[in-house]
Amino acid sequence: MATSAHVFLFFCIGALLFALASVQPVRVGADDTQIFGVQLTADPPSPLNCTAACDYRCSESSHPNGCKRACGTCCIRCNCVPPGTSGNQQACGVCYARQKGPDGNPKCP
Ligand SMILES: *[C@@H]1O[C@H](CO)[C@@H](O)[C@H](O)[C@H]1NC(C)=O
Repeated sequence: MATSAHVFLFFCIGALLFALASVQPVRVGADDTQIFGVQLTADPPSPLNCTAACDYRCSESSHPNGCKRACGTCCIRCNCVPPGTSGNQQACGVCYARQKGPDGNPKCP
C-alpha cells in the first residue's frame, strides 16, 4: 500500500511541476520559436515608424531638428523610441542608453 501512495505522491508532484511550468506561456512561446533557429513571428525588421515616433518624441524639444536627427539614429540602431516627450530612456534598454554623442554624453533624446 505504501508504494501506491508513493506513486500517487509522485503523480501529484509531477502535475504540480507541469502546472508551474505552464504558468509562463508567453516566455515559453517566445523561446519555442528559437528552438528551430527560425524566426516564426511575423514582425517586420523595423516595425517602428521612426519618423513619426521621433516627431512626437521631439515635439517639445528646444532643439527639434537636432533632437530628431539624434532620435532617428537611435531609433534605427535600437529600434526603439522612449514613450513621452522626455525621460523614460530606460524603457529602451541598454542599447538606447549607451549611444554616445561626440562629446561623450548620452546622445539619444
Ligand atoms: C511614418 O509616419 C509618417 C508620419 O505620420 C508618414 O508620413 C510615413 O509614411 C510613415 N512611414 C511608414 C514607413 O509607415
